[in-house]
Amino acid sequence: MALYPIASGWDIEVLDEARGWCRGRSGVTLPAPSVLTGYGALSGSEYQVQARFVRELRWPSEPSERAFLHFDGLLHGATVLLDGVVVGTSRGGYGAERFEVTHRVPWGGTSTLVVEVDSRERADIPPFGRPPGDDCPSIDFHAFGGISRAPAVEFAPAAFVANARALPKWGSDRVDQVDVTCFLDWLPPGWGEDWHDVVRLDVSLVQDGSVLAEGHSDVAAREREVGLSLDIPTAARMWSPEAPALADLRVSMSAGENHAHLWKSRIGLRVVAFEADGLYLNGRHHKVRGLSRHELYPYLGPCVPSRLHHLDARTIKEVLGCNLVRTAHYPQSPAFLEACDEAGLMVFEETPGWGYLGAEEWREVVCRDVASMVSRDWNHPSVVMWGIRCNEAPHDQELYSRTNDIAHGLDPSRPTGGARVMGDYAVPVLEDVSCFNDYAEVPLPANHQPYLITEFVGAITPANENGHVYHRTGSMSELMQQGLRHARFYDGVCANDGDGLFAGGIGWVAFDYQSSCGSKRRWRDVKTPGVCDLFRVPKLAAGFYSSQREISQGVVVESNFVWDEEVPLGGTGADEGSSAVWVWTNADAVRAIIDGTAISVGEPDWKAFPHLPHPPARVSLPASIPTAGILTLQALVGNTVVKERNYDPSRQRDIVYTKADDVGITGDGCDTTRVVVGIGDRFANPRYVHGGVLQLEVEGPGEIIGPNELDLAEVGGIAATFVSATAGTSGKVRLTARCKGVGSATAEFEIKAPVPERL
Ligand code: GAL
Repeated sequence: MALYPIASGWDIEVLDEARGWCRGRSGVTLPAPSVLTGYGALSGSEYQVQARFVRELRWPSEPSERAFLHFDGLLHGATVLLDGVVVGTSRGGYGAERFEVTHRVPWGGTSTLVVEVDSRERADIPPFGRPPGDDCPSIDFHAFGGISRAPAVEFAPAAFVANARALPKWGSDRVDQVDVTCFLDWLPPGWGEDWHDVVRLDVSLVQDGSVLAEGHSDVAAREREVGLSLDIPTAARMWSPEAPALADLRVSMSAGENHAHLWKSRIGLRVVAFEADGLYLNGRHHKVRGLSRHELYPYLGPCVPSRLHHLDARTIKEVLGCNLVRTAHYPQSPAFLEACDEAGLMVFEETPGWGYLGAEEWREVVCRDVASMVSRDWNHPSVVMWGIRCNEAPHDQELYSRTNDIAHGLDPSRPTGGARVMGDYAVPVLEDVSCFNDYAEVPLPANHQPYLITEFVGAITPANENGHVYHRTGSMSELMQQGLRHARFYDGVCANDGDGLFAGGIGWVAFDYQSSCGSKRRWRDVKTPGVCDLFRVPKLAAGFYSSQREISQGVVVESNFVWDEEVPLGGTGADEGSSAVWVWTNADAVRAIIDGTAISVGEPDWKAFPHLPHPPARVSLPASIPTAGILTLQALVGNTVVKERNYDPSRQRDIVYTKADDVGITGDGCDTTRVVVGIGDRFANPRYVHGGVLQLEVEGPGEIIGPNELDLAEVGGIAATFVSATAGTSGKVRLTARCKGVGSATAEFEIKAPVPERL
């Protein structure tokens, strides 16, 4: 597969009604937004723009029989022009597009490639079109625009492998066969000499550098679909959330030396099924414990390098201990799905939509969106279910029968589902899995099976006319309640007796996200129901999810309170002068020690949370925090201390801290590392509230994305900045954060020289 990236060197122009096309940024490497966005306080007109991405292409002198432009994530409608001629258009930005340019290439010469990206919320494109509703001008997320994945040019022979689908088959106790269907593309009639030679397809599956299985097939000219089966040996490693082993599927098509084409994809050996009692992967039951994710970052929206998608997959799987993520409310970047494949994080992927269905033509686009999602992502082992409904949209059995059939027709191996409004049971469920968003305090009875709760708690449970704001600088008692609300609901999800069985629950939501809906339950234009903030920094509630994993996967002992002389401890009065506070843990008990003196021991509260894998423990502490008292929380297994955490309440000893996620990034102008910056106690526990300002300064070839000053009074005592490299550079980068009266800290990382692009 001769794919040449064309990510670097783009100039961006933005259309101004009065002045026409205005030069924006130049020398940009994709993915990149049409315009950089702020952290909060955004208006639609700031990012719902029309932009033009322009780049020169230098073509090789050796002609190729076919040439294509590959795009993905053209948010949200696009027209692609090569030397002024339209070579492709797209409507809907969350999928892949391939445009043939074979007859437009001046071999050995140059062309100008222009991608006109329409980032307005066009009513003819799902998920848009919804008329403004009460307190929600359009949809509940900012659908930022731009090009959110790196484009490429492909050179191919006259006939080539356009796609292939691998369907693993279960034997008696493992996947023992993979059925591969290859989809072939032939030179259009009249474009040149037709092929009459014998064409051969070779298919192989490689794991850890060794060929697991191979097969071949002769293909008649113009055959479009060719299937063959591979027998999988017992030594092959299967894919599971615990051990996500991958394998490379290679399909090569040849007809003599001049006509060779190689197509590759990663796959995993696993089968998935939803039975009445829940999700089974390779025959093993997994109770779903998941969170939804919006693909939205500060400043860049969804147009982020793959490194940040990997950060999200690892955060949800490894930090939050979840086994599934829902891609709310659209197909997300292939880079995120690759990260989920690698991390062993299962995915419920859904078609674009939010609370609305448009007219017939709009519904046609929904059908196309479902087809394009399935055929783009069918080889990702992490994807366990297709969402064939527009989230919480009105019913239309005719439309959803079509989208359901499309998904099953293209991929007979995966179940389908689709998120409905809570309690909305009247219309029959035609998908394989009944999916309901349930914002009651404890789950409504499951009266369909299998039954998966696809949203819960968010910012609207328990019902309250203002909703709940879980922003770091907001109410501490609300922040302390957030995790308990998730815990209470998920306890109900785990109760398998009584009202029915739940396949699991997916909480709303992993990360805060930008939105203009729900004026009383957002902080500026940031919705804050995330158990982590927009910077992906865990809030107190994250401890609930982290602590539900088995202790063999890591001991968790996390306070559900802050130990800060300037913040009241909260909790409830247990005895006079003391306060009972919660600690998230998967250990047998938690011992609280202040300045070396044991104060109390708390055990998981099975009474309050009888069904959770690991209820939080209640610990008794002095109601007012002793000024200098160092608090130690020890996680105990039997009498043995297996982990301890220390907290210092004294702000006199506060420090500034910085932590770069990566030791090195590539200097391609797009790759970016997150650097967590904040003020915390000397054990680096963040202060949730702080009035300081952090000044950020970079030395070396790095560039801060966003402001170089963070007002902690606004974002809270901990936040992050994002640093990328000046395109084409290499060397050491030092990021220093300073706060007057507190101190400074520096994070360092290396920038590696990028591989230059050929075109
Ligand atoms: C749900 C919706 C989510 C989000 C949430 C707000 O109904 O599916 O996208 O808007 O409400 O709490």
